[in-house]
Amino acid sequence: MHLTRRSLMASASALAVMPKFTLASEDISVLEAGPSAVSLVSSEYPDTQVWGYNGGVPGPEIRVAQGGRIQRKLVNALDQPTTIHWHGIRIDNAMDGVPGVTQEAVQPGGDFSYDFTTPDAGTYWYHSHYNTTEQISRGLYGALIVEEPNAPEVDHDITVVVDDWRLNQDAQIDPDFSQIHDWSHAGRLGNFLKATLTPALTEVKQNQRLRLRFICVATDRVMRLAMVGMQGKVVALDGMPLDTPTPAELLTLGPAQRADVIVDVTAETGGQAIIGFVGREGNIALASLDISGQASLARRPDITPLPANPIQRLSSLEGAKTVPLNMEGGAMGGLQSGTYKGKRMTTEELIQNGQIWTLNGVAGLPDEPLAEVALGETLRIPIINDTAFAHAMHMHGAHFQEVFADGSFGPLLDTILIERQETREIAFTASNPGDWVFHCHMLSHQASGMITWVKVTP
Ligand code: C2O
Ligand code: CU
Repeated sequence: MHLTRRSLMASASALAVMPKFTLASEDISVLEAGPSAVSLVSSEYPDTQVWGYNGGVPGPEIRVAQGGRIQRKLVNALDQPTTIHWHGIRIDNAMDGVPGVTQEAVQPGGDFSYDFTTPDAGTYWYHSHYNTTEQISRGLYGALIVEEPNAPEVDHDITVVVDDWRLNQDAQIDPDFSQIHDWSHAGRLGNFLKATLTPALTEVKQNQRLRLRFICVATDRVMRLAMVGMQGKVVALDGMPLDTPTPAELLTLGPAQRADVIVDVTAETGGQAIIGFVGREGNIALASLDISGQASLARRPDITPLPANPIQRLSSLEGAKTVPLNMEGGAMGGLQSGTYKGKRMTTEELIQNGQIWTLNGVAGLPDEPLAEVALGETLRIPIINDTAFAHAMHMHGAHFQEVFADGSFGPLLDTILIERQETREIAFTASNPGDWVFHCHMLSHQASGMITWVKVTP
């Protein structure tokens, strides 16, 4: 599937998608998942039928102070079950939103009240965790921002939600969410990229300082993003501050990954500051901000690290438990057989059951956890990607760190992008009891096998 010229033109607009109707109730504590229509592409195209929270795509941005409490009643106005997962939040297991693991799915017409606190500042998001490929492809996601008490000073704090839509010529969502060809390759890749900025800024001034909170909500596409006419540093990944901010050059964000970037606008009046997608078929401007004059020329302070979050980090791997994770399957993978729902199957039988990928020989959520660890115990997971595709592995309920060959530890992450044939090791010290799923966030891969879980016992 190719990115078209239409995508290039249409996505140049940075305007947020506005809901077509407003909710009858003003109750901000409700998130109603339901059908809606939004102008997704441009006024030259019909509105796109979507599923959104409170009628919008993205859903309402939730902002809360660090340590604050979030209470939202999910109301299901869809004609199929749903749940909400609060991606990246260290949360009570019962609030994690995984149907069949942490709660029953919310039936059509039903509701579920989520109530939790937010220990860590940063950029997170919320999304459906039921029939996820379809529900996220149709728009059931939103940003969740936890604000530092002493945030760095910027002129604009902007959330940039980047999505990849598969649309037909009438700007309607392709309704076939289970194509074996997609599942066995890089997933459901779209043909229309869109960045939604909140607030929906269209202009900035030269020398202004911006905080851009990038969130890749794409079902399967890895986003490579560039910033033109802006210069600065990446200050956080997956919500967690970096000890040493790194130059903001090409950002690679796999599905579900986030990056906080602080940049100064360097483009001059008459020019533009551009957020672009860097692709094989060419570069696409996802958002263009006009430059309207100059802010003060006073020298800005250096971009310094964000205040650290109160999260435990690895100090050593002594006494750690090691459980390797072997990823197999997919096109060009040579998988011979696997276990699904407790039954040994050939690859053909797996495919008949919609299963393409295995984790340690098992397709789909196994009865037994990948690993069981006690609170305070450190778990090491060397992940062997013995497939021909990249995978974005996401751990619920914890942030982990990569363990490098020299024994040093990488930044805290909740999702790690592992390229084909790579082996990467992650580790974390268990601090949150419960049953936590661990899956590929390329949702087509998750749907076709790549999901397991880790048990943390109190
Ligand atoms: Cu963002 Cu299990 O998901
Ligand atoms: Cu995958």
